[in-house]
Amino acid sequence: MSLSPVQRSAEVLLKAWGGRRPKVAVVLGSGWAGMVQGLQEPMDVPYADLPAFPPLGIAGHAACVRLARLPAIGGADSAGPDVMWLMGRQHAYETGDATAMRGAVQTVAAIGCTTMVVTNAAGSLHSDWPAGSLMALRDHLNLVQRSPLQGLSGSDRFVDMGAAYDADLRRRAIEAAATAGAVLQEGVYAWMMGPQFETPAEIRMLKILGADAVGMSTVPETIAARHSGLRVLAISLMTNMAAGLDAQRLSHEQTLTAAAAHEQHAAQALRAILHSIAN
Ligand code: HPA
Repeated sequence: MSLSPVQRSAEVLLKAWGGRRPKVAVVLGSGWAGMVQGLQEPMDVPYADLPAFPPLGIAGHAACVRLARLPAIGGADSAGPDVMWLMGRQHAYETGDATAMRGAVQTVAAIGCTTMVVTNAAGSLHSDWPAGSLMALRDHLNLVQRSPLQGLSGSDRFVDMGAAYDADLRRRAIEAAATAGAVLQEGVYAWMMGPQFETPAEIRMLKILGADAVGMSTVPETIAARHSGLRVLAISLMTNMAAGLDAQRLSHEQTLTAAAAHEQHAAQALRAILHSIAN
C-alpha cells in the first residue's frame, strides 16, 4: 500500500533526524523569528521536500522544518530538549483554504510529538496591553467559520473544542514566562480572515463578543491539532492596538517592524516556556 503524504513527510523527517525524537513542535509566526537564535544542533528540511506541507509565499517567513535543541538557560551547561520548529505557515487568506496547514499538523502528530505551541502576531483590544504584550490563548472565536477539517470523513472530525487550549500547559507557561521576567496575559483570540485589517466597527463588534486579541491565523492549526490529539498552547505577540483604538495606520510593514522590536522579549519568554513544558 502506498504511503499517504503525511506518512511520507514523517518518514522524510525521521530519516533526516537520525533517531532524534522531539515531543514538542512550535509554529513560528510573524514576530517570533528571534526564537531561532542560539538553537543548538539545527537540522533543516525544506517544506518543499515534505509532501504534506504547503508552499509558502509571504515575506518574513522561512519555509522549512527545523529540528534543534533549545539553548541552555539559568546557568545549566548543557543544551535543552529537542524541539521541532515549523518555520512559516500558509494562511487561509492566501487561498481561501483553511485546510492549508492540516497535513503539516498531522505530520507533527505522526512523528510522535504530543504538544504543539502556536505563535502569532495579533492586534490588541486592551488599552493596557500595548504592542509587545504577550497573551496565551484561553479560547478563540472562529469568526471565519471555516474549518481545517472540511473534506474529512469519519466521526472523529466532530472535535470537542470545549478545552482546545490546554489549561495545564497555559498555567506552566505563565509561571515560566514570569521566571524570565515576562508577563503572559490570558485571553480570547478572534480569527478574522484578512488579509485586510479590521475596520474600527469590526473591532467594536469583537470587543462586545469577548475578544482580547485579533489575528489571521492560529485557529485552523489549533483545530487540526486537537483533531490529531495534540495538546495546544498558543501565544500572541501584540504588534499594535486593533483598528480604531489608536491613531496608528496598520500595514504588514508595521506588523513586522513592531514584531522585530519585541522579538527578543518574546523569544526570551518562549525559551523559558519551552524549557518548562518540553522537559
Ligand atoms: N489584526 C489582524 N491581524 C493582525 C493584527 C491586527 O490588528 N496585528 C497583527 N496581526
